[in-house]
Amino acid sequence: MTPFLRILGIETSCDETAASVVVRHADGRGEIISDVVLSQLEEHSAYGGVVPEIAARAHVEALDTLIEEALTGAGVALADIDAIAATSGPGLIGGLIVGLMTGKAIAMASGKPLYAINHLEGHALTARLTDGLAFPYLMLLVSGGHTQLILVRGVGQYERWGTTIDDALGEAFDKTAKLLGLPYPGGPAVEKAAAHGNADRFALPRPMVGEARLDFSFSGLKTAVRQAATAIAPLSEQDIADICASFQKAVSRTLKDRIGRGLQRFLEEFPLVDGGPSLVVAGGVAANQEIRRTLQDLCDKHRFRFIAPPLQLCTDNAAMIAWAGLERMALGMEPDSFDTQPRSRWPLDAQAQTLIGFGKRGAKA
Ligand code: KG4
Ligand code: ZN
Repeated sequence: MTPFLRILGIETSCDETAASVVVRHADGRGEIISDVVLSQLEEHSAYGGVVPEIAARAHVEALDTLIEEALTGAGVALADIDAIAATSGPGLIGGLIVGLMTGKAIAMASGKPLYAINHLEGHALTARLTDGLAFPYLMLLVSGGHTQLILVRGVGQYERWGTTIDDALGEAFDKTAKLLGLPYPGGPAVEKAAAHGNADRFALPRPMVGEARLDFSFSGLKTAVRQAATAIAPLSEQDIADICASFQKAVSRTLKDRIGRGLQRFLEEFPLVDGGPSLVVAGGVAANQEIRRTLQDLCDKHRFRFIAPPLQLCTDNAAMIAWAGLERMALGMEPDSFDTQPRSRWPLDAQAQTLIGFGKRGAKA
């Protein structure tokens, strides 16, 4: 039996500085002992998006204190920690350098092993920390930087079944909000406006619906929103609400088609899975109630278990990074050498091709 393990996790790949202490009990159960996240939302909101230089500086300022808080909050000293896990990609390179170098320094000074973690693997394995989910399962990551459907076969074994060929879904929400004059981040603003809008007023496109491949595309939808808005400008509050509601409906219909096909493929490839088939959602867009409902209905229809971890574990955090390190450690996987370098691009599935048009903001998750 694997012994009790305790890891310090560090996350700095985008605009959240985070540190966490997580343990893995001998029976394989994970437990978050402390989990601190400092969002840089305010620093970036004036610019309508994340500014890499500002993000990197903010990580430098906050990280030491956050790590101390995570240790104190867990009631442990560095000496009680078995290993350090730090995000080393994908993401904004300045932030990754800050987190990974801090992780290396702590590991080197304390003589502990270092695990350089793929941020996407953190998202992919979270459901095992929260729900003890067994492999294989499907994971939908919908954030500001990624829209991916991933088959999670095991630790380190990922197959990308679908990805966006242009904008990420969160990005589409953010751009829609921006062109309607709504505040950043756009997702929550669009959802709020949509609540009192008429979703049938604008017939917006449902990109990729009906296509056999499992990829996504959202830039055409964004263009259609711009055209609809321009055609009726100046916009009243009700117009904005109607556009937001119509946009959300188009997104939901698209997801229903894309993910529905993904669930079917999973059932074909894995007709017998212990505990039944499951779909896990991660990323900031998972906060959207209509999208959650769509996914829940889809899972009910296909008899999948739908797992949406608590929101603070869906968005960027260090507990998932610590947990990914624990999973590796428990399997006896080698720690990383101190030569390991941060990587702004680091696909989970090394076989997956970069799709044309993808990659403008494609590095962050
Ligand atoms: O995972 P996340 O917190 O971080 C990064 O991608 O960095 O995701 C943020 C994204 C943003 O694009 C934001 O607009 C979107 O998630 N988002 C939402 C909602 N809340 C956040 N999108 C739709 N509806 C929401 N309620
Ligand atoms: Zn992320």
